Amino acid sequence: MNILVTGGAGYIGSFASHRLIERGHHVVVYDNLSTGHKEFLHSKCKFVMGDIRDRELPARVMKDNKIDLVMHFAAKTSVPESIENPLDYFENNSFGTMNLLQNCLKAGVKKVIFSSTAAVYGDTRKDFVSESDELMPINPYGESKVFGERMIAHVHAAHGLNAIILRYFNVAGASLDNQLGQKNPKANHLFHHLTETAVGRQATMAIFGSDYPTVDGTGVRDFIHVEDIAHAHILAAERLMSESSYLQTFNCGYGQGFSVLQALKMMEDVSGRKIAYEILSRRSGDPAKVLAKAEKIRSELQWSPRYNDLKIICKTAFDWKKRQTS
Ligand SMILES: NC(=O)c1ccc[n+]([C@@H]2O[C@H](COP(=O)([O-])OP(=O)(O)OC[C@H]3O[C@@H](n4cnc5c(N)ncnc54)[C@H](O)[C@@H]3O)[C@@H](O)[C@H]2O)c1
Repeated sequence: MNILVTGGAGYIGSFASHRLIERGHHVVVYDNLSTGHKEFLHSKCKFVMGDIRDRELPARVMKDNKIDLVMHFAAKTSVPESIENPLDYFENNSFGTMNLLQNCLKAGVKKVIFSSTAAVYGDTRKDFVSESDELMPINPYGESKVFGERMIAHVHAAHGLNAIILRYFNVAGASLDNQLGQKNPKANHLFHHLTETAVGRQATMAIFGSDYPTVDGTGVRDFIHVEDIAHAHILAAERLMSESSYLQTFNCGYGQGFSVLQALKMMEDVSGRKIAYEILSRRSGDPAKVLAKAEKIRSELQWSPRYNDLKIICKTAFDWKKRQTS
């Protein structure tokens, strides 16, 4: 299969690109390198430096490379940044997705896999969120992805686009061989701060809120290893190639949660380092608990996670950070 991977020089897109190539697919990475890295590109992939907001280039690249399917990872991904600069998020993530879909139609590409997020659910106050739950995002990042999902549904109905929407929960970890991992200079998520503090690049880290109705008062998240997310994309791509009219949305999570403090303790264990932290007040836009109801992807795509282990997630994330800083 010939697959265009937008955002393929970033964290999750680079894992998907490598695993697709290892499975024999041809990959063209399309990325503006705003947070991505050329060093993450597989030696066998073709790289096009481009922006998803470019009106013409994506369609030209799709036609020139006889693309069968687009995996659309390219996006801005920081919740706090989206609260400070909401229009940047709507422009890059929502308009960018609209423009990419227009280019798909222009080039006759009818298969798309879209990177969505648990942030589309917002603060649902349910223990587990399922794909059919109402979408109530509480920050511009989540909202910018809801627009993407809804545009895809309309384009499916109007133009027969086949699509799989994958809503990832909290993606973390690095490859077991320590070759790929998170290196977004603007990263602001829990594992960035845990690993930065563990290697001593940060003296202390902040925990936002210790009064949530959770096991220890800190927020609870469904952490999923990035390799399992990459594998979900392979299964989704292969499924889409055998379907002629298909639109499905899947949660990508393990359906189990760990609190921020539990993750911190595990990081201390695997790194052998003490992680200093201070408790601050809750951060706007952060729900108490976000866990996936995760059966649908297992039954529909036969996805079965291989790295469902907080210890592996912490260990690979720490080893990767150590490599970056040594
Ligand atoms: N990391 C997570 O925990 C998580 C959770 C849920 C969803 N997601 C989604 O997964 C996708 C990938 O996230 P990531 O963590 O790998 O982020 P990342 O920042 O590492 O990767 C994003 C990539 O997209 C590129 N990009 C951004 N805007 C672009 C544009 N306008 N044109 C071309 N390229 C552009 C960047 O250069 C980068 O290579 C995103 O869509 C994100 O919303 C991530």
